[in-house]
Amino acid sequence: MNNQTIETIRAHGSCRRYRDDPVPDEYIETIVDAGQRSSTSSNLQAYSVVAVTDATRRKTLGSLCGEQEHVFTAPVFLAWCADLSRLDAVCATQGMEQSSSYVENFLVAAMDAAIAAQNAAIAAESLGLGICYIGAIRNNPREVITLLGLPRLVFPVTGMTIGWPLTKPRVRPRIGRKAILHRETYDSDQDEELFAYDRIMQDTGIYSGRQILSSGQAVQDDGYGWLKHSARRVAEPTRAFLRDVLKEQGFLLQ
Ligand SMILES: Cc1cc2nc3c(=O)[nH]c(=O)nc-3n(C[C@H](O)[C@H](O)[C@H](O)COP(=O)(O)O)c2cc1C
Repeated sequence: MNNQTIETIRAHGSCRRYRDDPVPDEYIETIVDAGQRSSTSSNLQAYSVVAVTDATRRKTLGSLCGEQEHVFTAPVFLAWCADLSRLDAVCATQGMEQSSSYVENFLVAAMDAAIAAQNAAIAAESLGLGICYIGAIRNNPREVITLLGLPRLVFPVTGMTIGWPLTKPRVRPRIGRKAILHRETYDSDQDEELFAYDRIMQDTGIYSGRQILSSGQAVQDDGYGWLKHSARRVAEPTRAFLRDVLKEQGFLLQ
């Protein structure tokens, strides 16, 4: 089946090369409005987004997000934030106090932010813009929090670059549906799909020159595909400091 919306979704590829042209404010507002149309837990709308277009601030963000070239070159950076701060204010109007100290509270806010971000991403792509999520916003969260002036109970979940694509981003193959779509109960028998996907990804050449460093040395490996790349990616702890930062921001995760 197909229609224009599904066509837009199917054409997605993360965009990492942008033209210099600015993105008019009207576009940013339309994109964020589309994000706001997303479903949101209990209509709490427990998220905010900080749009950064100022060149100096974008440059600092680029440095804080692992020196990724596309963060420097994209004219717009959206910082999607879990936000329970607004609900503190809501409770204050009612002479009440928010209970925000549980994992559930952070999960609700983080999901709201992610769902809104993805609706916004589709809206941006439907307008001919390119986007790339930037999880590296969590590389130096304390500095990002200071740079963006995020108050207590606001945490940057993901960044997103937006701009006019210099070249059409490639569409990456995905794991076969059989490993993702389970019928009635979960089926752990997924090896066939995973190995088939590994071969498909090797053939795309996406990983050539992108081997993850192992013990400080570049891995030269002809059989390097999605399996090795992903295993190496998840074998090491990532951003193990995040629980501390979340606590500092008021998310106690009890
Ligand atoms: C939450 C999240 C964080 C991401 N962080 C980064 C990032 O920091 N830098 C980057 O270049 N791509 C980032 N990506 C993009 C993924 O690498 C990309 O979506 C994935 O490889 C699949 O490729 P595709 O989006 O082109 O289909 C991120 C994606 C998501 C969903």
